[in-house]
Amino acid sequence: MNIAEVKNLSFSYSGQQVLKGINFKICVGDFVALLGPNGSGKTTLIKILLGLLPSQKGKINLFDKSLQNFSVWQNIGYLEQKTSTPRNMPLTAFGVVRLGLISTKKGLKLFNKEDNKKTDAIMKKLHCFSYKDKLFAELSGGQQQRVLLARTLINEPKFLILDEPSTALDSSSREEFFEIISALNKENKTTILLVTHDISQVGKYVNKFLVLDKQIIFYGSKEDFCNSTEVTDYFGPYTQHLIDHLHTAGTCPLPHNHEHCHSGEML
Ligand SMILES: Nc1ncnc2c1ncn2[C@@H]1O[C@H](COP(=O)(O)OP(=O)(O)O)[C@@H](O)[C@H]1O
Ligand SMILES: [Mg+2]
Repeated sequence: MNIAEVKNLSFSYSGQQVLKGINFKICVGDFVALLGPNGSGKTTLIKILLGLLPSQKGKINLFDKSLQNFSVWQNIGYLEQKTSTPRNMPLTAFGVVRLGLISTKKGLKLFNKEDNKKTDAIMKKLHCFSYKDKLFAELSGGQQQRVLLARTLINEPKFLILDEPSTALDSSSREEFFEIISALNKENKTTILLVTHDISQVGKYVNKFLVLDKQIIFYGSKEDFCNSTEVTDYFGPYTQHLIDHLHTAGTCPLPHNHEHCHSGEML
């Protein structure tokens, strides 16, 4: 099964094209790092994938269903780049995490004991239980991000989309954050699409790279990325630096890493 499939997608904001001829597939269990400079269309691509922006041209499938017919949204966890959770709202950390269960409620049902138990459990798992009764607004940036991740994970999504989740985190919280999502990927086979600039830190966890700059500059395995010339030819020293990082960190796999699911066409 493909988790996401994008065919020939293009998109413009009032006449200004920001995505052009995008084709790729994300397979079950993939951990994809989505890279690209600011303004390269990463957030726009994610929003179209989630149906939050209309797809103007092209075709999108989620879990082998066309986006129009897809309805199991609780299978997808999304942590926005700039979260719409107002940082000053009068809710406790616990209240914020429990909100993640709303998509599973039909009608105006109140939260029950089972929901509270689930909320406690995920907060323990993400090490934010100790401040569950504090106001969300009064937590540090790193603590808030952990709480928001707990909210995203409470429904045990099969596909996790994280848009620059680590920007508010210091280096050690960042490492811990990546460890947590990597464990989900390894142990639960959660498929992950992660927008990040922390390539040196995530390099060891991901299996695929998607490099975007309005069009796809590169999409493929980490092994191919480490040896690619498309990327360096296009971005020059910036990406050479990224690839060098992977090599020095010892995270470039040796050849013969066969893929069972092909990622799609590249430029
Ligand atoms: N709502 C919007 N209206 C008009 N232009 C937008 C809007 N959102 C983003 N853009 C523009 O689209 C381009 C891609 O933005 P975005 O997808 O946010 O890039 P990234 O996430 O890679 O930084 C940028 O040039 C940005 O200015
Ligand atoms: Mg963005």
